[in-house]
Amino acid sequence: MTQSPHTPQDLKIEKRDLKFGRDMAPPRWWHSGDPGRTAFFNALSSTFPVGEKFFMTSVRHFREGTPQPLRGQIDDFLYQESMHTREHVVFNRQAEDVGYDIAPLEDRARRTIAWVKRRSPIQQLAATCALEHFTATLAHDALANPAHLAGATEEAKRLWQWHAMEEIEHKAVAFDTYLHATRDMMPLRRWLKRSVVMAVTTLRFHYVIFRNTADLLRQDGCNNWATWRALLGFLYKEPGTMRLLLGGVFTYMRPGFHPWELDDRPLLAKAMAMLETSEPKRTAA
Ligand SMILES: [Fe+2]
Ligand SMILES: [Fe+2]
Repeated sequence: MTQSPHTPQDLKIEKRDLKFGRDMAPPRWWHSGDPGRTAFFNALSSTFPVGEKFFMTSVRHFREGTPQPLRGQIDDFLYQESMHTREHVVFNRQAEDVGYDIAPLEDRARRTIAWVKRRSPIQQLAATCALEHFTATLAHDALANPAHLAGATEEAKRLWQWHAMEEIEHKAVAFDTYLHATRDMMPLRRWLKRSVVMAVTTLRFHYVIFRNTADLLRQDGCNNWATWRALLGFLYKEPGTMRLLLGGVFTYMRPGFHPWELDDRPLLAKAMAMLETSEPKRTAA
């Protein structure tokens, strides 16, 4: 077994070096002028630099010995995640510039990752697969339904759309690496391992994101029921960001699941066209 047959043979994971938000700092409540939505997306972003560094480490650990084209895809994945980290560091710094204290949020993400890093390399890789499935699910929905980012500033929208697009492009890299690394494992054990890790990851992910969101709302003086009711409506009703993420968990736990069983390349092409016409700042690749 070399690579999952579900990954499209002609898949291209592009190396793009794009920069966002260098010219204009976003307002404090950059998403719809709404503290709840802004807090949720800022809470996500606060975990990206430490989280994506962990993704890179856990996948790189298994790079040696992987066959082509997977090895090349791992390199492209590493490149894309390093670009995401760079841009979200800037995005997080802009949140600090408007007065948020992001450090406790980053610390919470760091403590969780430190906990995961005490597990075996294969469990760490399985955790990355789970989190990559989250990002791919959120990415698909963010691109498929404009309601997720409606009301966000144009530059923030571009940043999140670019990130979403690349998460879809490389959505199977960690998973295919896991399939390769566990190729000699009994199928039941292989499935059980990734499913148990997914269950634990789901719980910890919710804990970190909602605690981080609450921290930011507290800093805004509106960590109250009215704000949470509106935010929970956004997250679990329409557009239902977190409800869709939970649905994705059940999809992932099905034996035989593969990220590319949902072929969202047409969505990718549409997003790419959108990104190009919105003219982000581009530097040499
Ligand atoms: Fe990423
Ligand atoms: Fe990713």
